Amino acid sequence: MDIQQHTFLVTGGSSGLGAACVCRLVKAGGKVIIADLNEDAGRQLADELGSQVRFVKVNVVNAADVTTAVTTSVTEFGGLHGVIHCAGMAIATKLLDREGNPHDLDTFSKVIQVNLVGTFNVIRLAAAAMIKGEPNAAGERGVIISTASVAAFDGQIGQVAYAASKGGVVGMTLPMARELARYGIRVITIAPGIFDTPMMAALPEKARQSLGEQVPFPSRLGRPDEYAALAQHIIENEMLNGEVIRLDGAIRMAPK
Ligand SMILES: NC(=O)c1ccc[n+]([C@@H]2O[C@H](COP(=O)([O-])OP(=O)(O)OC[C@H]3O[C@@H](n4cnc5c(N)ncnc54)[C@H](O)[C@@H]3O)[C@@H](O)[C@H]2O)c1
Repeated sequence: MDIQQHTFLVTGGSSGLGAACVCRLVKAGGKVIIADLNEDAGRQLADELGSQVRFVKVNVVNAADVTTAVTTSVTEFGGLHGVIHCAGMAIATKLLDREGNPHDLDTFSKVIQVNLVGTFNVIRLAAAAMIKGEPNAAGERGVIISTASVAAFDGQIGQVAYAASKGGVVGMTLPMARELARYGIRVITIAPGIFDTPMMAALPEKARQSLGEQVPFPSRLGRPDEYAALAQHIIENEMLNGEVIRLDGAIRMAPK
C-alpha cells in the first residue's frame, strides 16, 4: 500500500516509537490520526506537523474513545487504511517480592488490559471501519501493525505481566491475519528489542548503557526511526502478512 494519500491511525503517537511513525508517515505524504492519552505532547506534535495530522485523546481500552478516533479518520480524511498500534505500558514486578508476597493482581490485570485488551480493542474497531473502504488495484483495503516486544519470547524476571501481555499480542497476529485476508487487510506485529524512547528514559544512564552493550550488533539502543522505517516497509510490502518480526540487533534477553 502507498502511504501517499492514505490515512493511518497511530496509537501511542504522542511519544517514542509512535511519534517516530507519525513523523515518517507525514513525510511520506500520509495523513495521520494521533490517538493517545497524552494530550499535551500529542497536540503539540499535531500542530508542528500541520494539516495532515489530527490529535484525538484516546484511552485504547475505551471503546467509545477508539470509535471517536476511527470516526475522525473517516470524517476528516475520508477513510482509514492503516493502524500502527504503539500505545502500551511497561512495569517491572516479580511474581513474589523479597518478602515472598505475591504479585498484586490488579497490577497484572492493568498491564493485560492496556497492552493486550487495548490492542484487541483498537484492531477490532479499526478493522470494522477498514472493510467499508474501497480496495486498491491489488485488492488491498488496509494494514494493521501491532507492537509486541522481545519480552514475549525471552521475558526477564520481573516481566511476568508485561511478557504475558505481549505474548498475547503475538498470539493474536496470525488468526487475525487469516480472518481479515478475505477483506484484503494484512496484520503484522513488530517485536522490538530495546529502543531509546521516553519509556526507557526512566532507567538510569548506566542501566541504559549496559542494555545497549548487550545488543550483539549494533551495540546500542534502537532509534525510534528504525522502528518507523520497518513500519513503513510493512505498509509498502504487500507480501508481508501474519508475521511477527523481531527488530532487536540479535539480542536475546538474559534472565535478569
Ligand atoms: N522502548 C522499548 O524499548 C520497547 C521495547 C519493546 C516494546 N516496546 C513497546 O513499544 C510500544 C511503544 O513504547 P515506547 O517505548 O514508544 O513508549 P512511550 O512511553 O514513549 O510511548 C507510549 C505512548 O503510549 C501512550 N499510552 C500509554 N497507555 C495508553 C492508553 N491506555 N491509551 C492510549 N495511549 C496510551 C502514552 O501516553 C505514550 O505516549 C509499547 O507498546 C511498548 O511496550 C517498547
